[in-house]
Amino acid sequence: MPGNNPDTCCWFVGAGPGDPELITVKGKGLLDMADVLIYAGSLVNPVLVASSPATEKVDSWGMHLDEMVALMADRVQQGKTVVRLHSGDPALYGSIVEQIAELRKKEISVRIVSGVSSVFAAAAALTTEFTPRGVSETLIITRPAGKTLEKDYIAELSQYPATLAFFLGSEHFFAITEKLSCPKDTPAAVIFHASWPDQQVLYGTVADIAQKAQAAGITKTALLIVGNAVKGTESGYQRSHLYS
Ligand SMILES: C[S@@+](CC[C@H](N)C(=O)[O-])C[C@H]1O[C@@H](n2cnc3c(N)ncnc32)[C@H](O)[C@@H]1O
Repeated sequence: MPGNNPDTCCWFVGAGPGDPELITVKGKGLLDMADVLIYAGSLVNPVLVASSPATEKVDSWGMHLDEMVALMADRVQQGKTVVRLHSGDPALYGSIVEQIAELRKKEISVRIVSGVSSVFAAAAALTTEFTPRGVSETLIITRPAGKTLEKDYIAELSQYPATLAFFLGSEHFFAITEKLSCPKDTPAAVIFHASWPDQQVLYGTVADIAQKAQAAGITKTALLIVGNAVKGTESGYQRSHLYS
């Protein structure tokens, strides 16, 4: 299979949600060894980028896929340690599969180092878990339709007693909450810049959370969480068997 030679490998690393201490030890080790660092623009904390001794640092914002892959492949072929730093965990809305496919065509393999997704930093900001017993056994991670997605399944997905986490929705909170099938008094929260120093947490319900986010001026880098789990210790949870 092409691209399986460990000597020709590009590292895809999860940077975590923002707090530079929320990168994994393995991820930080790779950053410290990197010769070339390609990072995901504004979502990756500049402190992490600055901490790497890499001699070539490239912001991938606005770069074309072919251009980025050509750069990564060229530097790997020169024997350099190449780190592609993604925000949160690369497996969520990281568009990594298309990068991996193009790299494989050039006989470059990829290794992935997991990161802390912003969805988990959001749970931490809410001081809750997404699956309190008797409240929700399910976490649904999804995104709304928009410029780059024609159709979403928000009405269908919100029929279940699940916790819903919406990525890439900061400009669409009104549209999302209008589509939700759950009762209008279902708890909801918006978490802006989870784990960053300017983190903001807004609590509300499906009926008013979009209005609250608009009033707070939140238009980017936020997650919308919907479901009783938002209320944490007030969610009506049952004690788990684990500690009984
Ligand atoms: C391209 S996706 C990347 C998600 C990333 N892979 C992750 O696991 O967090 C970008 C979206 O993730 C969410 N996001 C990323 N970092 C965030 C943070 N620190 N706080 C709140 N939402 C964040 C926002 O919804 C943003 O529009």
